[in-house]
Parts: sequence; C-alpha cells; structure tokens
Amino acid sequence: MAEAANGLPRVRLEVAERQLELGVERATEGNHGIVMAPLLQETGLISLDPGFLNTAACTSEITYIDGDVGILRYRGYPIEQLARDSSFLEVALLLIRGELPTAGELEAFETRIDKHMYLSDDFRQIFSVMPRRAHPMATLGAAINMMAGFYPESLDPLDPSAVSLATVLMVAKMPTIISYIYRRAQGNALLYPKHGQSYVENFARMTFQLPGEQFDAPEVFYHALETLLILHADHEQNCSTSSVRLIGSAQANLYMSVSGGVSALSGPLHGGANEAVLNMLTYIRDNEIDPKEFMTQVKDKRTSVRLMGFGHRVYKSYDPRAAIVKVEAAAVLEALGVKDELLDIAYEVEQVALSDDYFVERRLYPNVDFYTGIIYRAMGFPASMFTPLFALGRLPGWIAQWRERIVDPAGKIGRPRQVYTGPGLRDYVPMEQRR
Ligand code: CMC
Repeated sequence: MAEAANGLPRVRLEVAERQLELGVERATEGNHGIVMAPLLQETGLISLDPGFLNTAACTSEITYIDGDVGILRYRGYPIEQLARDSSFLEVALLLIRGELPTAGELEAFETRIDKHMYLSDDFRQIFSVMPRRAHPMATLGAAINMMAGFYPESLDPLDPSAVSLATVLMVAKMPTIISYIYRRAQGNALLYPKHGQSYVENFARMTFQLPGEQFDAPEVFYHALETLLILHADHEQNCSTSSVRLIGSAQANLYMSVSGGVSALSGPLHGGANEAVLNMLTYIRDNEIDPKEFMTQVKDKRTSVRLMGFGHRVYKSYDPRAAIVKVEAAAVLEALGVKDELLDIAYEVEQVALSDDYFVERRLYPNVDFYTGIIYRAMGFPASMFTPLFALGRLPGWIAQWRERIVDPAGKIGRPRQVYTGPGLRDYVPMEQRR
C-alpha cells in the first residue's frame, strides 16, 4: 500500500474521470480512518454504511478494543488489571477524567458521591406512580429523565461546573434509583442511603434489606458486584453510547442524553441480552431440550431464534469480559453455596456452540452477557433487574463519552445522510380516485 510522507496510507478515490485524494486520521492503535467529509462536495456522492459496519462516527481517547485478539482497555489500562485491582468509582474517575486518581482525589470523589446518594421525598414519589409490573428499564429511563426536572442548576452542557455537578448527581443517585425500582416491584418500603457505607454496600443494602432485618453479604458478593460494574463501565461506540453521543450532539443535557442510552440498552441485541440469556437457559431447562437440539433451532434461518449471549460486532475471537465473568460465576456460586443447574446448561450450550461449524465459521463466541445473569441470579436479583445492573455499570462510560462529545471542536450535530429509495415525484391522488 502506498504511503504518504506521514506514514499513513494514501487514499485515492476514482469517480468517473476524477481522482480524489482523501485525508486519513491517525489512530494511536487500531484502524486509521479515511476522512469522508469532502466526498459529497467533491463528487456529489455519499457513503452508505447501514449499521456502521465500517464507519467511525468520531475520534475518541477513552476506550480501545481490538476485537480480533480480545483486547479491551480503558484509557490505556487493560480490563483484566482494572477488574482485579481497581474499584468501580476509581474506574469511573479514570473514564471521565482520563487519568487514574490519586488517593486524595478518589477519596474526595467518594465523599461527594456519598453525600449525593439521597433522593428527595418528591423524587421518591415517582416510583409509586409506576405500575409494579413495569419493566425496570422503562422506570429507569423515566427516572433519569426526571432528574432533568429535579436538578435544573446542572443542565447547561456548556457550563463545566454544571456538567461536573450532573456527573456527580447521576453516579451518586443511580444505585438509589435502581434499588427503588426493585423495591417498588417487590412492594417493599424504600430505604435511605447510609453515609459511610461503600457504593456497592449501600446499593445492595437498599435493594435487599428486609423490614426489621439487617442485610449482610459475604465479601465475595461485593467483590463480584464491583467487578461486574467495572467490566461494563465502557465499551466505546456501542449502540447505547452512540445514542448518548448523538443526543448530546444536539446539546441536550446529560440526563436526557443518558436516558436515551438506557432506551437503547434495553434491547435484547444489546444490554437486554443478559435477561434474554437467562430466559433462554430457563426455557431449555423447563422444556428439557437437548442443547444440540436447541442449536438446530438457532441455526435454522426460518426461525428467529438466536443463541443469546453469543456473537459480537467487534469481538471475533473472544470477549475478554466474558472470560473474566465465566471464572467469577463459578467462584461466586461456590462461595455463596449456590447450586444452579442453569450454569451447567450454560457450560453445555457453550461447548456445543464452540464445536459447531455454524458458530466457528461466523466467529461467534460467548459475550459478556452469557454468564453475568447467572451471577446476578445467585446474588438474588430477578432477571428483569439484569439490564438495569448493566446500566449502572455503563453509566461512567456514557458520561465520559458525552462529555468528550460536548467539548469536541470537530463535533458538529450528528445528522446522518440517507440514500433515498422511495417513489419519485408524483401528484396527490384525491380519495375518490384511489383504488
Ligand atoms: N445466534 C445465532 N446466529 C448468530 C448470532 C447468534 N447469537 N449472532 C450472529 N449470528 C449470525 C447471524 O445470523 C449472521 O449469520 P449469516 O451470515 O448467515 O446471516 C452472522 O452470524 C453475523 O451476524 P450479524 O447479526 O450480522 O452480526 P452483528 O455484528 O450485526 O450482530 C450481535 C452482533 C451481538 C447483535 C449478534 O451477534 C447477536 O444478535 N447476538 C445475540 C444477542 C447478544 O448476545 N447481544 C449482546 C451483545 S454483547 C453486550 C453488549 O454490548 O450489548
């Protein structure tokens, strides 16, 4: 491949008789990007790429993935090291600010979060008007939107102090909101956060403590929760994050942008997959289906059955998060003394899939959602709460990406083009002449 003086590939496009030289944006790692903006002006053509298979919507300094070899790094740090050595709030700061905090900076952030976990009585009332059977993701999206109404001093996306406040309020109040969604569904009174408890301790206690009882969980419970939150904290330009960035590109406030991300995450092809995996494994167990027989259904293109928790747009060898979660799932179940036959079914389904040509040829491997539900279930969460837990983890990533987008000097409002394939010009037909 011919290279320009800067070491980047030279890109020449021939359109009819014209030769167009396109610039290339340098990546520090991974794919460089052809700058497509001049194409329309110079040739009258636009690029067509449904599903963004090949299109970068931005440059970003936050997260790096190499899907061919299973690499995931936040701000350069490998996910394996962060999952082992860091805490969720430390990772949140790393993603949002770009550097690991000092001990003092982390403590100051934790204190600020601790102070703001509380939700006012007015805010608490919004949970009582949602039907008990509402899906938690519907309530979560609504509650995050409502934050824009409750904290007007933190809305201006162009005011750094307002953005800083909105960041803290969102990270602080999200566990309280999610615990309230769960308690509302259970018909239990809402509890208050306690100063001095850690982020995950407060969340677990507000979620699970029963009236008149103490909530106590072993260290392995909190460790697993913290690990899962870290593993979900960012994943570059996935569907929900791209939604958050796109909404933010219109200078919508942080709450409304993140609420759009929650909506995207709820879909079963994205964050909703963790709930769908558990439903799938339960279906296999309850109907006594042989995993090999189930795979026949998955491979039959006449059905719409997919092997949930398998496949990824970017990972084509393995998902490094799934590798960590699989080990964690076995350890958590053992430590909590939980025997779950769904874990055995999951192992069996994975084995069958990994030795099946259909999956091998398409490079489909377990993704992060394949084993997470088994851990959440062992902790006591119902399947409908799995995707809100994903959202709790993903929040720092959404915030970091939104903030990067808001201050990006190259960031225009997001506005994709289309290739129109509808009817040409035609005249309105009066009703009586239509057939
Ligand atoms: N089960 C069966 N077939 C599959 C699966 C699957 N889980 N995933 C992909 N395929 C097939 C698909 O039918 C297609 O086959 P063909 O070439 O014969 O038409 C081929 O593999 C390529 O699939 P695709 O849908 O074009 O791939 P994509 O990159 O557009 O979709 C995906 C990625 C994650 C949406 C898809 O793999 C999928 O639906 N997986 C199941 C849902 C899931 O687990 N989602 C969680 C993703 S990870 C967490 C997150 O970030 O949200």
